Amino acid sequence: MLTGKNRYNAAHMSDQNTPKLEDIVSLCKRRGFIFPGSDVYGGLSGTWDYGPLGVALKRNVMNVWWKMFVDERDDMYGVDAAILMNQKVWQASGHVDTFTDPLVECSNCHGRFRADKIDLSKCPTCGQKDTFGEPKQFNMMFKTNVGPVDDESSVSYLRPETAQGIFTNYKNVLDSFYPDLPFGIAQQGKAFRNEISPRDFIFRDRELEQMEIEYFVEPAKWEEAFELWRQQWHKYFEALGLPAESIHELEVEEADRAHYSKRTVDFEFDYPIGKEELAGLAYRTDFDLRNIQDASKKNMEYTVKGTNERFIPHVIEPTIGVERALMAVLTTAYTEDEVNGEKRIVMKFPEHLAPVKFAVSPLLKNKPELVDKAKEIYRNVKTKYGNVMWDDNGNIGKRYRRQDEIGTPACIVIDFQTLEDGTVTVRDRDTTEQKRMNPAEI
Ligand code: GAP
Repeated sequence: MLTGKNRYNAAHMSDQNTPKLEDIVSLCKRRGFIFPGSDVYGGLSGTWDYGPLGVALKRNVMNVWWKMFVDERDDMYGVDAAILMNQKVWQASGHVDTFTDPLVECSNCHGRFRADKIDLSKCPTCGQKDTFGEPKQFNMMFKTNVGPVDDESSVSYLRPETAQGIFTNYKNVLDSFYPDLPFGIAQQGKAFRNEISPRDFIFRDRELEQMEIEYFVEPAKWEEAFELWRQQWHKYFEALGLPAESIHELEVEEADRAHYSKRTVDFEFDYPIGKEELAGLAYRTDFDLRNIQDASKKNMEYTVKGTNERFIPHVIEPTIGVERALMAVLTTAYTEDEVNGEKRIVMKFPEHLAPVKFAVSPLLKNKPELVDKAKEIYRNVKTKYGNVMWDDNGNIGKRYRRQDEIGTPACIVIDFQTLEDGTVTVRDRDTTEQKRMNPAEI
């Protein structure tokens, strides 16, 4: 287990425009976005806790997905399935047999590593040469027992993907909503993977959150749907404010595809750690529904309305990890510039993602008339926008720097002129320009 301190030592440089991972990690801790899980006890590798600003940012990223792919469409159904599922789910899906990574152990220091991620001629921990044997397949599912009896029949797993909670509810949705093909079922929720080497801040976690869609189509129409969802992914990335030139599509070769996929395109992003997977798009055929039908003996066929035509639908799966989306948003937003000769760090979040929309301050906190007026304006703006912060800590310059670091798009300052004509100063995060405005115009 790595300690919290060690986990903050992940310093990586990429090109000049990409921030260093260590700078993002340090800002996230300093400003209350993301903390190491169980930090007070030295951490628990592969787990992270979201602070007040992190949870707001994460929800905004998730809400954009839900609004775009569920609320605004007529062909989508949302579900929220249980994390613990009958062990038969994971037997039928192939996860018990094949959800594995190759594991090697150093015979000198007994360090364990993912065989496909290291140079096998030399141990990365102790430096000894030729200490690794043949890789063993390590199953990444967290195993547990449901109920007080610890035997094979009570075995369950923390779900390693949210997808199976969708497939197991396909028939329920079909029978209660009678949708026409094509239609999709969407889910957001936690997933768990006992990664051999969690790494790179929130990029590879043991506890993660996924946003997945299983989109059911006629077998002959899978290519059309694949293409449509390929375009939908780009729309979502644009809505997160990710630069188009930082997204790269990768056609995944057969040998590297998951056991259920006949075609996969990965969407990679230029992270501080290099070009890595952000999201995926897979053609899962009828693999899952057919396996469920065989294992459960329940009919998974879809009947075309008004006909006798029946078949098991095929599936296109757009999938993304919330942490990967967050890391892309943080990477894009992190900016260092200079204001009046001083270095400044500013998180240029798009307004709809910013955890705090406005900060409201009295110019001086020891002038009760300014504080009273500022409190009145604060309450009005908060009623209208929700995520508004009261900030009277330190001098005004310090407040601006702090709000820049958390990505607040605008700061509203109440001064003596406000008492005379009711106008306030509104300072823009990105340009640092200040304008006098009537609060009603904000
Ligand atoms: N249902 C298909 C599925 O789970 P996957 O490629 O294994 O496919 C989907 O995972 C997405 O989940 C990935 O594109 C990535 O964004 C995210 N993801 C996977 N493993 C992760 C991990 N250990 N930590 C953080 N995110 C992860």
